[in-house]
Amino acid sequence: MGVLRGSDKVRSENKVKDLKYIGSATSPHQIEGNTKNDWTLFEEKGLVPKVGNACRSWERMEEDIKLLKVIGANAYRFGIEWSRIEPEEGIFNIKALDRYRKFIDLLIKNGIEPFITLHHFTNPIWFYKMGGWANKKSVYYFERYTDFVSRFIKVKFWITINEPNVYAYNSFVAGVWPPMEKSIFKAIIVMRNMLKASGRAYRVLKENIKYSKVGMAHHVRIFRPFGKLGKIPTALREYLFNFLPIYSDVYGVLPPPSGFMESLGARADFVGINYYTADTVRFSLKNIFGEDVYIDGLWRNSLNWEVYPRGIYEVIKRYNLGREVVITENGITTKDERERERFILEHFKWIKEAIKEGFRVLGYFYWSLMDNYEWKEGYNAYFGLFTRFRERKGNINLRKLWDLA
Ligand code: FCB
Repeated sequence: MGVLRGSDKVRSENKVKDLKYIGSATSPHQIEGNTKNDWTLFEEKGLVPKVGNACRSWERMEEDIKLLKVIGANAYRFGIEWSRIEPEEGIFNIKALDRYRKFIDLLIKNGIEPFITLHHFTNPIWFYKMGGWANKKSVYYFERYTDFVSRFIKVKFWITINEPNVYAYNSFVAGVWPPMEKSIFKAIIVMRNMLKASGRAYRVLKENIKYSKVGMAHHVRIFRPFGKLGKIPTALREYLFNFLPIYSDVYGVLPPPSGFMESLGARADFVGINYYTADTVRFSLKNIFGEDVYIDGLWRNSLNWEVYPRGIYEVIKRYNLGREVVITENGITTKDERERERFILEHFKWIKEAIKEGFRVLGYFYWSLMDNYEWKEGYNAYFGLFTRFRERKGNINLRKLWDLA
């Protein structure tokens, strides 16, 4: 992967195709407020931060459209909260779905294309009690929920599941998210069930909405080895964390150890990529995934994640697998709005570089529209273009920044 050189100057004179969709991303539990799902149970035990009212978007989602217009968005990625739609097993709440439907109509009226996420980390309580994603029936439950939603909501773009790798890792390996277990074996089963469920959801969506475009949102990270042995845990992370879920999603099979290449009968229409950061990894006898090394002097966000803009170009190149790419999330937590602007600009430059080289990027979603609930940090993360109370922080207009980059 070359750095900008003389020959690139010639190429940079070719006009970069416009990003068709530009906007911002959120998830239901993080913005709606008063959601009752598996996280609630762990909140009650004091094991995760309290979500409370979040951004009150359940009541105020119409106002979020105004915010989207201010930042020059023509697309919005948001989610449907499964626990609202199916609060008890097999019992569907049509009123809750109608709330989302009205919101979607209004988005469309305002020229904003909805990209809907069906699963973004949180689960209904009944689902959790039945063993959650470790139970093989999870595949059927998710399919049934997807079917119900897509009979009533007719939009083009769907993201079945957000970041199965992060979910499986945090919930079943690190044990820091509900259900807070520590079993690599279970994590593999969970990954398998999520990928199968996504495949089934893909087929249901295509059946119910002929013109739909369906994919997943994959958390993709840059992993760099530290020292000679660092290559071992780096390769393991690259394979299990980055490669496996995307490959499964795009080629419609379950690679080992999630399966034996069984077919899923579904192949994603686009590759959704959430890109934030890079890890430097060293070998460790205590952890097969190695240990992160903290390198001084690098650009970092307020949670100490390394900021590495060129990485967005690298992951587009490496993981497009011949499909159109949608950057389903990319963002920075900071209290400095000039830094946020610089962050977006630098990432835009690298996306343009990828487009110039012929890679197809359909859309970009900045994470996030407003400061919101962050899974481990509660309200101590500042990813938003607006505050949690919808006050504008800087004067970022995504479309203008894109044109400028
Ligand atoms: C991503 C998650 C999203 C948010 C950002 C900061 O991994 O998908 O919900 O927490 O990180």
